[in-house]
Amino acid sequence: MERGCLHFLIYAALISIGLARYAEDEDSTRHMFRLWCQEYKVFYKSHTMMEEKYAVFHSNIKHINWLNDVHGGDTEFGLNQFADLSPEEFSSKILMPRRPAPVFESTRYIRGMSSNFMDLPDSFDWVDKGRVTPVKDQGDVGTCWAFSTVENIEGQWIQEGHPMTNLSVEQVVDCDSMFDHGGNTTNADCGVFGGWPYLAYQYVMKAGGLETWEDYGYCCGLGGKPGTCSICPAAGYNWTLCGQPTWFCNMTQSCAAKIDPKKFVPGLKVVDWRAVDQNETVIASQLMEIGPLSVAMDATMLQFYKKGVFNPVFCSKTALDHAILLVGFGTEKDLFSSKPYWKVKNSWGTKWGENGYFRMARGAGICGINTQVTTAVLQK
Ligand SMILES: *[C@@H]1O[C@H](CO)[C@@H](O)[C@H](O)[C@H]1NC(C)=O
Ligand SMILES: *[C@@H]1O[C@H](CO)[C@@H](O)[C@H](O)[C@H]1NC(C)=O
Ligand SMILES: *[C@@H]1O[C@H](CO)[C@@H](O)[C@H](O)[C@H]1NC(C)=O
Ligand SMILES: *[C@@H]1O[C@H](CO)[C@@H](O)[C@H](O)[C@H]1NC(C)=O
Ligand SMILES: *[C@@H]1O[C@H](CO)[C@@H](O)[C@H](O)[C@H]1NC(C)=O
Repeated sequence: MERGCLHFLIYAALISIGLARYAEDEDSTRHMFRLWCQEYKVFYKSHTMMEEKYAVFHSNIKHINWLNDVHGGDTEFGLNQFADLSPEEFSSKILMPRRPAPVFESTRYIRGMSSNFMDLPDSFDWVDKGRVTPVKDQGDVGTCWAFSTVENIEGQWIQEGHPMTNLSVEQVVDCDSMFDHGGNTTNADCGVFGGWPYLAYQYVMKAGGLETWEDYGYCCGLGGKPGTCSICPAAGYNWTLCGQPTWFCNMTQSCAAKIDPKKFVPGLKVVDWRAVDQNETVIASQLMEIGPLSVAMDATMLQFYKKGVFNPVFCSKTALDHAILLVGFGTEKDLFSSKPYWKVKNSWGTKWGENGYFRMARGAGICGINTQVTTAVLQK
């Protein structure tokens, strides 16, 4: 008992000061595993399953220690809701299949600086301006692309002078996977396994609107909560390509059954979409001009991010697997260095990272963050 308490204190101290190292011995990790299961309300169906997950947890503890060592304190990594997923499981369940960024015809791109923002300030943040809805949680499926798309549209809706509104991500997940993108079936093939925001804008354009989050709630990835979800692949789901689908909405609660155009937010119409050039100075200026922007990146090493400016030792600029929302930028300065960063809204809940957000290095195309910058265009 006393020993348990001591371990708890050590664990709590590590958590609260975000200090680099977790104890790696068997006793300590067993104990941390029990605490972690309590904190995240995780129950395993069998002892065997629990032992398997414990082994993953133990190896993640070592992995996190290694991450903190090699990043020398610039970025801090720690335990979070993904602590019982191996990096491979994390990639296949939470992230999207890695793909190169699509390139669009040149007329799609906004290339220059915004004439209103030629002189960039040191920092800028749409969250401080009250223009960003609360951080959501995609659960344990790869629906990030739908969050990134819908949150960009939420920003555009506010920019047009409307009140802040949580829009339906589930509508896009359910319905976009049934939508024929003229042969480009990236979104349809794998349903919840990920798509591209630029295709999702096209779905919203065609659909004619979006319901609110409250009217068409999110039910994906809630772990098959009894009665609400079951294994139910989207129309056109390719088992060979995507493997066994994870739990998501029951077909009786799918797009066709749930969508109600009468409930579309009145006046909200996506009429087009644009992409922004890769130059990060231009992106910052356009972020200020346009509003929060949809972006994509290689997020393989983001699993255990806790805080700081993310600048991973390994990262691909060309294999993207996660879509998020760019909301601001700034520069972290101390006596010895000055680190320009992007502030990014994630969809992994508020307990993850810096209250659901993360910051990542700006100016060197880190993790391809500048290669798939897009925005919806709303009807005025
Ligand atoms: C948006 O949803 C969050 C819960 O995710 C809620 O706390 C907030 O009040 C909602 N905002 C609006 C404007 O409806
Ligand atoms: C489909 O992909 C092709 C080639 O990548 C592209 O030329 C075409 O515009 C895309 N169509 C749509 C509807 O996105
Ligand atoms: C499913 O994906 C596999 C592998 O990419 C492909 O060979 C097959 O043609 C696809 N099936 C359908 C029905 O699209
Ligand atoms: C789907 O949901 C309905 C009620 O919403 C239920 O009657 C049915 O059994 C569910 N189907 C599956 C496969 O879970
Ligand atoms: C990015 O754009 C800015 C402003 O137009 C320009 O000064 C800068 O040279 C560009 N950077 C690169 C790498 O092209």
